[in-house]
Amino acid sequence: MEKLYEGKAKIVYQTENPNHVIIYFKDEATAFNAQKKDIIEGKGILNNKISSIFFTLLNQAGVKTHFIKQISDREMLAYKTKIIPIEVVVRNLATGSIVKRLGIPEKTEFNPSLIEFYYKNDALGDPIICYEHVLVMKLATEEDVKTIKEMALKVNQILRDFLIKHDIILVDFKLEFGKLDDGTIVVADEISPDTCRFWDAKTGERMDKDRFRLNLGDLAKYYQEVLERIEK
Ligand code: C5P
Repeated sequence: MEKLYEGKAKIVYQTENPNHVIIYFKDEATAFNAQKKDIIEGKGILNNKISSIFFTLLNQAGVKTHFIKQISDREMLAYKTKIIPIEVVVRNLATGSIVKRLGIPEKTEFNPSLIEFYYKNDALGDPIICYEHVLVMKLATEEDVKTIKEMALKVNQILRDFLIKHDIILVDFKLEFGKLDDGTIVVADEISPDTCRFWDAKTGERMDKDRFRLNLGDLAKYYQEVLERIEK
């Protein structure tokens, strides 16, 4: 198969159908714009399975995503999209970069949930941008931004309600959006413990990539625990 793109954690392949791609999940873990790197055996399998469950949930709830189906341990079939170069972060509780950047106290609750935009550009280190930057840089239209925000908040609501039933707090997460040939905007990329922060509702333990970022260890064990809880 023709390789269309290889990123830090995934490879995208063209299929025979020009509108479909296969997304292959690798075991590479990176943080801090790839300054910290490691291989964590089995992570790709866990992220593919977890992402597939979340995308299925969203598709069933009427949120359009690129996901078609999981086809193997490490692969999902998805619609081919043109990625909008904005990383959309939704925050329910303050932690991570917002605490460092703005001095907002850890665990401050955001109600309504906070939406941030980052310019998806590795060379620039994915800088935070505001709505006006999106328009000036023509990353998306006003209409697109409205759609993206509505979709991001809906994803937050669906995932939050689902996860809390499994004793997981959805602290924050990052989404990417893509456009299909006909212009439809869909949730793309992955939704996994690599791109979300999950805290155990009972113990407060981190069940996400912060275990790697903060050298807490046992990453695969906690990703496995997330999978087992949401499979129930
Ligand atoms: O680092 P920060 O606090 O801004 O991250 C917010 C959320 O976005 C976290 O869930 C993190 O995992 C996710 N994120 C990501 N990819 C990035 C930056 C952040 O998935 N490049």
